[in-house]
Amino acid sequence: MTAYKIIDHTYDVVVVGAGGSGLRATLEAARHGLKVANITKVFPTRSHTVAAQGGISAALGNMEPDDWRWHMYDTVKGSDWLGDQDAIEYLCRNAAEAVYELEHFGVPFSRTEDGRIYQRAFGGMTKEFGKAAIQRTAAAADRTGHAILHSLYGQSLRHDAEFYIEYFALDLIMEDGQCRGVMAWCLDDGSIHRFRAQRVILATGGYGRTYFTCTSAHTCTGDGNGMVLRAGLPLQDMEFIQFHPTGVYGAGVLITEGVRGEGGYVTNANGERFMERYAPHAKDLASRDVVSRAMTIEIREGRGCGPLKDHVHLHLSHLDPKIIHERLPGIAESARIFAGVDVTKQPIPVLPTVHYNMGGIPTNYHGEVVTLKDGNPDAIVPGLMAIGEAACVSVHGANRLGSNSLTDLVVFGRAAGMKCVADIKSGARQADLAKGAGDGALARLDRFRHAKGTVSTAQLRLSMQRTMQSHCPVFRTGSVLREGCDLIAQVYRQMPDIDVKDRSMIWNSDLVETLELDNLIAQAAVTVESAAAREESRGAHAREDFAPRNDEKWMKHTLSWFDTKSGKVKLDYRPVHTYTLSKDVDYVEPKARTY
Ligand code: FUM
Repeated sequence: MTAYKIIDHTYDVVVVGAGGSGLRATLEAARHGLKVANITKVFPTRSHTVAAQGGISAALGNMEPDDWRWHMYDTVKGSDWLGDQDAIEYLCRNAAEAVYELEHFGVPFSRTEDGRIYQRAFGGMTKEFGKAAIQRTAAAADRTGHAILHSLYGQSLRHDAEFYIEYFALDLIMEDGQCRGVMAWCLDDGSIHRFRAQRVILATGGYGRTYFTCTSAHTCTGDGNGMVLRAGLPLQDMEFIQFHPTGVYGAGVLITEGVRGEGGYVTNANGERFMERYAPHAKDLASRDVVSRAMTIEIREGRGCGPLKDHVHLHLSHLDPKIIHERLPGIAESARIFAGVDVTKQPIPVLPTVHYNMGGIPTNYHGEVVTLKDGNPDAIVPGLMAIGEAACVSVHGANRLGSNSLTDLVVFGRAAGMKCVADIKSGARQADLAKGAGDGALARLDRFRHAKGTVSTAQLRLSMQRTMQSHCPVFRTGSVLREGCDLIAQVYRQMPDIDVKDRSMIWNSDLVETLELDNLIAQAAVTVESAAAREESRGAHAREDFAPRNDEKWMKHTLSWFDTKSGKVKLDYRPVHTYTLSKDVDYVEPKARTY
């Protein structure tokens, strides 16, 4: 029995998170008559999708002929053969329609001279199965995510989705392996809410903030992933952390790959365009793992720029200022504010920076959460779905191609909404929740709220972030990773000694950050343990002690469980789907839709 007063709600669908995928799922379910609640810890248009700059990939063929099969080829190759090919096919086949939907929803895409959606080049996007680079990334200048969020939020409101804004989701309500709802805390008035739903969709984003320097917002703490681990379910492929080649040196702020797509390039301290040596064909538009490793090698071998020789230069001053003004206005501003440079005259100092989590909650291409159960690697967890960066569908495998993230958000956000519409009836009676449902979540809240230890949340978070930065970086070795496992375990052991000063329930950011840290530290542990175990190099996971990719032994997804009591991580594996949708009897081509 909890001392907290609980306010109960019942919905058909509860979506947690209001970034691109969460809003797209919310909209899809709401516009087909389901009663949908969206719970979000930040105002929807401030979700981290707002920071997505360069664009959204789809074989629209607006600049030159294109084909979704070429896009699929690039994505399978880019994933370093760890992506599930049925899901990748679903992504690439549905991408064009998903982008046209966005256009109809009101996204102000940049335009070609003849009025079509403008598309730019991005790393790893090619034509005719790898023959040459192609312009496949649809863009709204360099504020594509921002534009998408605004349109999707407006459309969701139009279809009467209900938003619970600045509510912090605490934990899932699980009964006999089924998800029945979610507990949440209203930050504004301190009230506690219990949501019961036929489906809960986690769209809570990535966990970039396990690292010290990242392009992710402070809010990117993987709260859904933390809830899944506490529910005794696994996360997948957590060792694959993407470093974006061009984060502003010292600040971590993203400078879009679209800069290189528009003709920008990187140089070392000798002024050499070193990517010509590492990737003679793709050069600066090689995939992100390749460019990040090349930059790291240049710096390690003493050819870095600046007094400390610890970064490289990104040039765009040779571009027509009109192009910068029209297509890259946001990064010109970021470079001025965060690096003090005028991009029309000076290069931007940049460094590979943690940007994206390929791993997350394992799902199928409908967004249903799956787990390994009784030998079945695709066992569905009833009632629970996940989408966006929180999920691991897995379309990105070991490395995501730039601009495939926004596509993932809207294609699988829509797919999850469609699956809800297909499987559940609006207003169907839901069984009563078990007595005391959600009490565990409140006990955890209460424990941290009244914690009187000796170490602050900020100190522990910093130890975790510095460990991840130094012990799970671009290049990895077994001994450093093992040491990282021990250091992260030490941080976890200190959690019971945490000190929270603010005991209130109203806008208690001390407590929010502590709950977020509790989510992050579990993810840090499964990340570094998964990385230590994978003795090969694949995509973003570059082992110096196991340099080649080893398909025979390692072409499989890592599953990781976290025991909250002991802090111990358990690993197992599930096979990669190397088959396409044509083999899947369930697959039905989506019908033409009305917007
Ligand atoms: O470089 C960028 O604009 C980032 C895009 C992405 O991560 O997809």
